[in-house]
Amino acid sequence: MKFKAEILAASMICVVFGSSAEKTVPVYLDDSQPIETRVQDALSRMTTAEKIAVIHAQSKFSSPGVQRLGIPGIWCTDGPHGVRPDVLWDEWEQAGATNDSCVAFPALTCLAATWNPEMSAIYGQSIGEEARYRNKNVLLGPGVNIYRTPLNGRNFEYMGEDPYLTAEMVVPYIQGVQKNGVAACVKHYALNNQEADRDHVNVLVDDRTLHEIYLPGFKAAVKDGGAWSIMPGYNKYNGDHACENHTLLLDILKGDWGFDGVAISDWGAVHNTDKVAQNGLDMEFGSWTNGLNWGASNAYDSYYLATPYLKAIEEGRLPMKDLDDKAARVLRLIMRTEMNRNRPYGSMNSDEHYAAARRIGGEGIVLLKNDRNILPAAGNARKILVVGENAIKMMTVGGGSSSLKVQRETLPLEGIRKAAAEKGIEVVYERGYVGDVTGEYNGVKTGQDLSESRSAEQLIADAVKAAKEADMVIFIGGLNKSDHQDAEGVDRLDFSLPYGQDAVIEALAAANPNTVVVTLTGNAYSMPWRDKVPAIVQGWYIGSEAGNALADVLFGKVNPSGKLPMTFAKSLQDYAAHAKGDAEMYPGVDGDVKYKEGLDVGYRYTDKLKKDRINYAFGHGLSYTSFKIGQPTLSSKTFDGNGNVTVTVPVTNTGDREGSEVVQLYVRDEKSSVYRPYKELKAFGKVNLAPGETRDVKLTLDKDAFAFYDVSDKMWTVEPGRFELLIGNSSDNISYRLPLEFKGDLLKTQD
Ligand code: BGC
Repeated sequence: MKFKAEILAASMICVVFGSSAEKTVPVYLDDSQPIETRVQDALSRMTTAEKIAVIHAQSKFSSPGVQRLGIPGIWCTDGPHGVRPDVLWDEWEQAGATNDSCVAFPALTCLAATWNPEMSAIYGQSIGEEARYRNKNVLLGPGVNIYRTPLNGRNFEYMGEDPYLTAEMVVPYIQGVQKNGVAACVKHYALNNQEADRDHVNVLVDDRTLHEIYLPGFKAAVKDGGAWSIMPGYNKYNGDHACENHTLLLDILKGDWGFDGVAISDWGAVHNTDKVAQNGLDMEFGSWTNGLNWGASNAYDSYYLATPYLKAIEEGRLPMKDLDDKAARVLRLIMRTEMNRNRPYGSMNSDEHYAAARRIGGEGIVLLKNDRNILPAAGNARKILVVGENAIKMMTVGGGSSSLKVQRETLPLEGIRKAAAEKGIEVVYERGYVGDVTGEYNGVKTGQDLSESRSAEQLIADAVKAAKEADMVIFIGGLNKSDHQDAEGVDRLDFSLPYGQDAVIEALAAANPNTVVVTLTGNAYSMPWRDKVPAIVQGWYIGSEAGNALADVLFGKVNPSGKLPMTFAKSLQDYAAHAKGDAEMYPGVDGDVKYKEGLDVGYRYTDKLKKDRINYAFGHGLSYTSFKIGQPTLSSKTFDGNGNVTVTVPVTNTGDREGSEVVQLYVRDEKSSVYRPYKELKAFGKVNLAPGETRDVKLTLDKDAFAFYDVSDKMWTVEPGRFELLIGNSSDNISYRLPLEFKGDLLKTQD
């Protein structure tokens, strides 16, 4: 209805402006004109009240356009793994529509684990098509916050611990989404690395760490991906909320990076009219201000950027220029999306989208361990026992705002049964433990009955009995997106698997030596049973095609090639943020959390520990075939920062199956005037090889690969001297070390 009214309004304008059709189209509606001309033209016709109206919500996920001018509004949706079901106008509750079921794509941890930017492009394109078909203009994702602690409840929505990997993976996702005329909204800018006290926690981090670890993903999203929107988060940085943070929004985002898109507040993350008005936030969503207290309805006119802002402008207390800038950015977004008449129509639940979800899932699953080549599970197994709640639980419902309503979801047990049947293998199932039986989020119900009356002891006894009668056991457990088990708003409470799963795994391993452990999580966890089982598979949250993607890997249709995007350390204390058990570092004291570990995040810290403190290192992942990484060659043994230096790495598939390997290049500065982590990922390349085949992987480095952020002059700096290029297939398996001399003068570059 609303849209029709807008079209009508637009056609009325044509009449008002003149008689001949060509001459009558106002500039802002004429899409042969440059966008900036159209934006300024539209802005010049808007009243102050109209400008105010377009910069805040009118419902849970939408904002109005300018009906009088025929300018449509904006419709946002979560993100980042699938397009969220529509909610009621003013509530989080789903609206109960029958045309809003989606394909759930694998969680972003899984995407990052593919180490394949091509998968990001397919992902972005597919989810962008779903959003476009549903008439959404802004997709609230992807998430690029760095994995600082394995307790962070939202790590599954992000891309791991390394800024370079994150930056490489986020760019094609954004470009893929935006090809559909849908804006990506990169979140949560910045330093939103924990859910504990997420609304208020004040992050204190040194400048160098901010720029080297926590900002590169956002910077790449803006500068290389060209993101049309970004979401400042809930937390504070240096005392100011992200949404009102001058440094983050004006100095860095809009200043240094030249962001021309819209900074959209996280839902309810705005706290003060004057501050947000002046410090670079453009749009306000999700506030719950009725002027008195937190209320039952949203009271949109009372938003900080609504009446209070209008009043401040009318009284001359706040300048018009900031409002003009915000409104212009919103108009630019509308013209890039809804008013782009050339954008494609999109599609939903297509075969291609399911195929993409399955492919990305299969490529992101990580084979952590595979003794005796027990996987793939064909061999001599005639009977397989599957154990574990995650084999039968829908995992697309729950976890917070990324919860979905799927058109279909193949469960792990179903996928395994189907694949096993093709090989004539019998599959039996035992529950093993009871985790979370609920299955509802914002009114979306899985409809599953997961109730169980047996005691924990009985469940284990029954599983053990069945394990003794099977040729192979596949345990499928992990976390499950319920509170404290990978969910928004709350962190995990500890590093271990919940619901007594360790005891179940131990019992199964004792009963059957062919016990394979598969975990579906968005986080690392402790594995006290690691040496007692022959195989471990990290499966993440895979979405609609979970069962098929898992079965593809377990039965060998897909040869695993995923690599961990974060370190799986032995214990919580093996992560720098927890090493000292210092509450100031996590979860924070008196509202402040201090990132005292600085640059030592993930492998940058664990590189300093004894190897036995790590279960599986960043970048680790096995295959059903074997590879040989050959002697790399350098295009030049010296480099002066101009152009690139290329490293050519021959890789041979030395096994008897087709497979893919990821060559990883880490840079090490031998001598520096400042502390530098032992090594840092600066290039990687994935190559698919037939048995016996050799191909070259070409990795290029430019000056940025050698630079650190100099806090004294805020410049990226390369000091001349000797570097080493470390080449291998995981952060702890380096096969070659090549010296490279950086010659010339001290190099300085601005952000
Ligand atoms: C989350 C965002 C999400 C928004 C809208 C917030 O609570 O932090 O990630 O996009 O809600 O659902």
